[in-house]
Amino acid sequence: MKVLVTGGAGYIGSVATEELIRAGHDVVVFDNLSQGHRAAVHPQAKLVVGDLADIQAIHALFNEHKPEAVMHFAARSLVGESMQTPFLYLGENVTNGSNLLQVVLEHGVKRFILSSTANLFDNPAKIPIDETVQIIPGSPYGESKFFIERMLYWLDKTHGLRSACLRYFNAAGATAERGEDHNPETHLIPVALQVAQGKREKVTVFGSDYPTRDGTCVRDYIHVVDLAQAHILALEALHKGSRTYNLGNGAGFSVKEVIETARSITGQDIRAEYGPRRGGDVATLVAGSDKIRKELGWKPIRTDVRSIIQSAWKWHSKNPQGYSDR
Ligand SMILES: NC(=O)c1ccc[n+]([C@@H]2O[C@H](COP(=O)([O-])OP(=O)(O)OC[C@H]3O[C@@H](n4cnc5c(N)ncnc54)[C@H](O)[C@@H]3O)[C@@H](O)[C@H]2O)c1
Repeated sequence: MKVLVTGGAGYIGSVATEELIRAGHDVVVFDNLSQGHRAAVHPQAKLVVGDLADIQAIHALFNEHKPEAVMHFAARSLVGESMQTPFLYLGENVTNGSNLLQVVLEHGVKRFILSSTANLFDNPAKIPIDETVQIIPGSPYGESKFFIERMLYWLDKTHGLRSACLRYFNAAGATAERGEDHNPETHLIPVALQVAQGKREKVTVFGSDYPTRDGTCVRDYIHVVDLAQAHILALEALHKGSRTYNLGNGAGFSVKEVIETARSITGQDIRAEYGPRRGGDVATLVAGSDKIRKELGWKPIRTDVRSIIQSAWKWHSKNPQGYSDR
C-alpha cells in the first residue's frame, strides 16, 4: 500500500516508516523538519518537505503521490508548551489536522491512523486506563488530539473515512538506525541518557512522596517498534471499520526505576535532583491495552524497562550528537 506518513522525519514517524517499508509498503513522508531530521527518513521513503499549514502543498502532495492511507504523526506535542501558548495547539495542531483531513476527503482516501495521546485522560478514575475511561484532556495539547479524534468520528459517518486513533504515553527506545532526538528533549529516558553522556548536568525528579512503590511517579513506556507495529496492525484492520485503542506495555515503571536502570546500563552515576511535585502530574499513568491485544493480536515484545533503555543507549552511544552526527 502507498502510505503517507506525516511527521515521518520525527521520532515515532521515522520508525513507523522503517517498519512499513519492512512490511512491504511504499512510503512518502511529509515533514517540515521543525523537529524532524532528514537523516531519520528511511532511504527507500520519499521525503517531501512541507508544512501542514499549507493546504496547497498537501494537495500537491496527494496529486503527485496518490497515497492510499495516511499515518498522521506531525504535530506539536509538548504538554508544558501547550499550557503556555495554547493556540499553538488549539489553533495550529487542530487546523493542520483539519487541512490534512480536507485533502484526504477530496482525494477519496479511506484509511487514516491518528497518533493520539494518553493526555486525553487527566486524573483517570481507574488504572490501567482502558478505552472506557472518561475523556478529560489534561492540556490544550491533549484537547487538540481529541478535536481530531472527533473530526475522524464524523468523517467516518459522513464520508466513510475509516480511522484508528491510537493513544499512548511515552514512546521510548530505538532501532539500530533510528532513535529519539528532540530539541528541546523533555522525555525522561533520553534526558537521563544525556546526563550519562555528559551533555546535561542532572535529571530533575518532580516529587518523591507519591503513593507509589518508591514515591516517584509511575509511567507507561512503550518501545517505539512495538508502537510502530500497532500502527501497521491497525492500518491493516481498517477495512473492518474504525477503531480506537489505548496502547501501553502493561507495566508501569517509576521515575526512580528508570534512572536506576539507566545507571546500571550506562555504568554512569546519573545525577538526580529531587524537587517538589510538578502541577498536573498524577501518581500513576498506565494504559490498559487488552482491546488491541484481543482484536488485532498486538503483542508488545520489548516490555521490560531494561531492554527498552538498552536499545536507546545503543543508539545514543552510536550517535552521541543525535542525527547531526550523520
Ligand atoms: N513521543 C511520545 O512519547 C508520544 C506520546 C504520545 C503521543 N505522541 C504523538 O506522536 C506523534 C509523534 O511524536 P514524536 O515524539 O515522534 O514527535 P516528533 O516531534 O519527533 O515528530 C513530529 C514530526 O512532525 C513534524 N512536524 C511538526 N509540525 C509539522 C507541520 N506543521 N507540518 C509538517 N511537519 C510537521 C516535525 O518536524 C517532526 O519531524 C505526535 O503527534 C505526538 O503528539 C508522542
